[in-house]
Order: sequence, then structure tokens, then C-alpha cells
Amino acid sequence: SAPLKVALLGCGTVGGAVLRLLDQQAEDLAARIGRPVEVAGVAVRRPDRHPEVPAHLLTTDAHGLVTRPDVDLVVEVIGGIEPVRSLLLAAFEAGKSVVSANKALLADDGSALHHAAAKAGVDLYYEASVAGAIPLLRPLRESLAGDQLRRVVGIVNGTTNYILSRMAETGAGFTEALAEATELGYAEADPTADVDGFDAAAKAAILASLAFHTEVTAADVYREGISAVTATDVARAAEIGCTVKLLAICERVAPAGEDAEGGDSVAVRVHPAMIPTTHPLAAVGGAFNAVFVEAEAAGQLMFYGQGAGGEPTASAVLGDLVAVARNRAAGVAGPGVTTYAGLPARPIAET
Ligand code: HSE
Repeated sequence: SAPLKVALLGCGTVGGAVLRLLDQQAEDLAARIGRPVEVAGVAVRRPDRHPEVPAHLLTTDAHGLVTRPDVDLVVEVIGGIEPVRSLLLAAFEAGKSVVSANKALLADDGSALHHAAAKAGVDLYYEASVAGAIPLLRPLRESLAGDQLRRVVGIVNGTTNYILSRMAETGAGFTEALAEATELGYAEADPTADVDGFDAAAKAAILASLAFHTEVTAADVYREGISAVTATDVARAAEIGCTVKLLAICERVAPAGEDAEGGDSVAVRVHPAMIPTTHPLAAVGGAFNAVFVEAEAAGQLMFYGQGAGGEPTASAVLGDLVAVARNRAAGVAGPGVTTYAGLPARPIAET
């Protein structure tokens, strides 16, 4: 049958891995989907920097590519808010489904994107936007949809977890550990988004929205980074049987003075915290990510794995691609508009 035609926006570490996996797994993917997957084009800023991509696929005209009549599905791995938001809205309007890895955009404007996708009757999936390879969004949105979540606590930034882990292991200070993380390629040239908690805050907003069926944006998240954590803080924590982690905490809360049980709103925050070394999250070392979930009926769950990197993130992108292809085959659009009929987000100052 006719191939599923994919437009790829962006071809950095993740985009390159998506192309490699599409090629390596072409046969299995075709078998799972019931039709072959074909790359229709790859939009990049500098075609001369991508000798690994067949020249006829490369284009600088991303808008032209996402609205091309033969394209079925847009995979976006550019990141950032604009021009991506406009490109994705144009894609929806042209009837294309979207798979995105863009946490900043989904955390900023996820609701508008969901509504645009629903209006067009197409799909919007973004499993790769939070914690790379770890399946989290589908479990929260689908597997746990019949339960009541109390709390979602995660280590969702690998760079800061690497830095804090090294500080604990070697007694190094923050600056020294950051320099090591940069040298090893964990931290970006500009580590602000990781170190100051912006990256974790965007991921926390997405997790909270799905976990509590509500609308939380990055601006609703209280945020504190790790640059003020000292070697002494880490050593003192160890003395009392604790470890310091940058946590993203999403929980049901009640107004001050009221019983938190059955709280009627959601508070989301990112900050360094001391956790007992006996807690499962304390064992999450290196650049790994993990998310600990507490639900009324399910009890405690933990999701653990590689939260970044080309192939792990591409794995999540391809999983979404298969979901979209199956929806197309079934004649449905998914995952469906998030109605946000759930708990309101409460500014942290009010809790
Ligand atoms: N900079 C992120 C991290 C990578 O360190 O976890 C993917 O979001």
C-alpha cells in the first residue's frame, strides 16, 4: 500500500538518529504499520552541513515542506517556540499529523496546539519531549487514566543530575562539576536552561498537565536551579543519610490550612531537595532520569531510563510515529483533545 510520507523538521542529534532508525528498521516498521515509511523531505537551516542526508531530500523551506500535499506526518525536532509554533499550526491546517520532541513549545502552548490538532482532526504526539526514551506521557495519559494521581516526582534533567551526582561522589563544588559535565558533552555550551531549572520546569508542566488532566504551563512552575548548591550542602546531606537531587514535583494541594488529602488544585515546582538515600530516586545516578508516581489505586510506580541522547530520544519519536500510523489506519485521531476538565493549577504562592 501507499507509503506513509514523513517530513522531518530539523536534523541535529535527534533528527539524525530518527533518519538512521527509520532506515535500519524500515522492514519491521512497515510490518508493524502495514505500509512502508518514506522520508519526504528534511528541513534544515544549512543544507551544506548535512552530507549524510541525500541531497534531494534537503530543503530550507520548512513551511513548503509541511504543507506539501503528499506529506502525511510532520516530525519536529527543531526545538524552541518560533518559528516552530507557526510551522506546526500550518501543518495542522494542511491536515498533517505531528510528532514533536519540543518540550518548550508544549509547555508554553500545549493547549492551543491540542485544540488546533483536534479541529483539524489530526494527531499530536510528543512522548520524546519529556525524559527522552522513558515512556511517561502515554502511561500518565492512558495507562493511569482510570486512577487518581497524588504526586509525580521526577529527576527529569540529566545534566544537573550528573553534576549533583559528581559532587556527591567526589566532593567537588558546583563549578568544578559543571566544567566536567561540559567537557564530557553532558552540559551544553550554554548550560543555563539545565542548571537554572528551565528545562526541568518545562517537563514538569507537561507531566502535571497529563497527570492531573489540567492545563499547566512553564510559567505556572516555581523554579530554582542548582547553581547555589555547595559542596558543603552535599556533604551535610550525606551526614544525615540524604542525597541532593534537582526534583520536579507535581502534586495535588489544598489551600493553606486545609487537609491536603483530596486537594482541589495542583502545584508544580522545581528545586534542589534532600531525599533519603533509601528513596528509589536517590539511586538514580549519572545523567539518567527517573519519575516516581504515587496513585490512589496503583500505589507507587517508578519509570527509569535515558532521558536524553539521539537514539533514546529517537526511540520515543518512532513510537509516536507508529501510533500516528495506526490511528490513520483505524481512521481515528489521537490522543484526542485534552479537555482540561481537571484540577486548576494553583500558583505556588497560594499553597
Ligand atoms: N538538556 C537535557 C538534560 C536534555 O540534560 O536532561 C534533554 O532534554
